Amino acid sequence: MFEKFFNNNKKKRIFIPSKIFYGENLNNEIYECLKEKKIIIIADNFFKNNSVFKKLKNKLNKYVVNTFYISGPPKVENINKIFKKINGKYNTILSVGGGTITDFSKAIIAKKYFGKLDGINIGKDVSNYKKKNIQLISLPTTVGSGAETSRYYVVFDKNNKKIHGKSWNLCSDYVFIDYLLIKNLPKDQILLSSFDCFIHYVETFICKNEKSWFNEILSLNLIPVIIEALNNLLHKKKQKKKNLTKLAVCSSLAGATISNVRTGNIHEAAGALLELTNLSHAETLYIFFEEFFNFYKKILNSKINNNNKNLKHDTIYSLIEWWKKEFKRNRIDERIKKKLKNMNIYSQENINYILNRVNQDKVWNYKESPIILSKNKSQHLIRKSLSKYK
Ligand SMILES: [Fe+2]
Repeated sequence: MFEKFFNNNKKKRIFIPSKIFYGENLNNEIYECLKEKKIIIIADNFFKNNSVFKKLKNKLNKYVVNTFYISGPPKVENINKIFKKINGKYNTILSVGGGTITDFSKAIIAKKYFGKLDGINIGKDVSNYKKKNIQLISLPTTVGSGAETSRYYVVFDKNNKKIHGKSWNLCSDYVFIDYLLIKNLPKDQILLSSFDCFIHYVETFICKNEKSWFNEILSLNLIPVIIEALNNLLHKKKQKKKNLTKLAVCSSLAGATISNVRTGNIHEAAGALLELTNLSHAETLYIFFEEFFNFYKKILNSKINNNNKNLKHDTIYSLIEWWKKEFKRNRIDERIKKKLKNMNIYSQENINYILNRVNQDKVWNYKESPIILSKNKSQHLIRKSLSKYK
């Protein structure tokens, strides 16, 4: 319901359809949610032999109709294959994995509800679906995308073109953030996915009309939590359980904020770049964030200075430098350069591809962006961002 409602100056919305649990060893709670259900498990192939996952699977054994292990990006052809195999034999999907696995699961449900995958409730499309009859239970194994609580999904066709849609009926019914499933995440993955979460909080609080008091509270209070938790995990190596769980909860709440508000042109540019490269979502965001943040410097600085006593970084410059230093220290910067080494990323063709995507979002460029974003300005920002990798 209210798929086409947008926050404006007079009317705002707070929808958080997912019930979120966090802690350690949540198998009993998961079992309570799932008993008597007909369950399809969609799990990251990486977890196939994971002892925590195997224990849960054994516990649910008599209710599990089928289990599918997925690796790589969520591809439409694989979604269609599994959709055909399981048609009508289930009422619950248990999704065990990061953002791509969750999006895979959401796409299966979207296909069932709407009979299509591309453009659901995007632009002029209206695909309201009133009755929700498939339950989605998500067990995140990463800490950044917020896909488990978000109404959006992104999958890819055989040409790596983005296929996406949105519906409140696709948010997880339950999210179980179990420390046992995230505790082995490598440091660089924690940093990358937390960066995605950080950008979600920044983009939702800089927009002009769709922002809300509620999401500002989350952004301003949780950005310092993310930075502090990362500092504790990466440098002081203290209270791993507490800090990693905090990052995961911040991510799930960010999934809810992007659903209630919107993302901006950093995500738009990054989405286009993702289709042209083999970079991850967070890596593509990183390429654009510095130039775009500098563009919004005035508003970001005023928000940080006026509202954020908890954040040690008192200017946007110091915040940018903090992320850059961490990306260098964890050799992510080096990895991005390596991935782009053999392609001419700075070609006019690539710049135009990204520019076209950014220009399509007229609502952001002329209504929501704190500074009106002309085509020339966008081109300049994209060029400057990519020039560091040519
Ligand atoms: Fe994102």
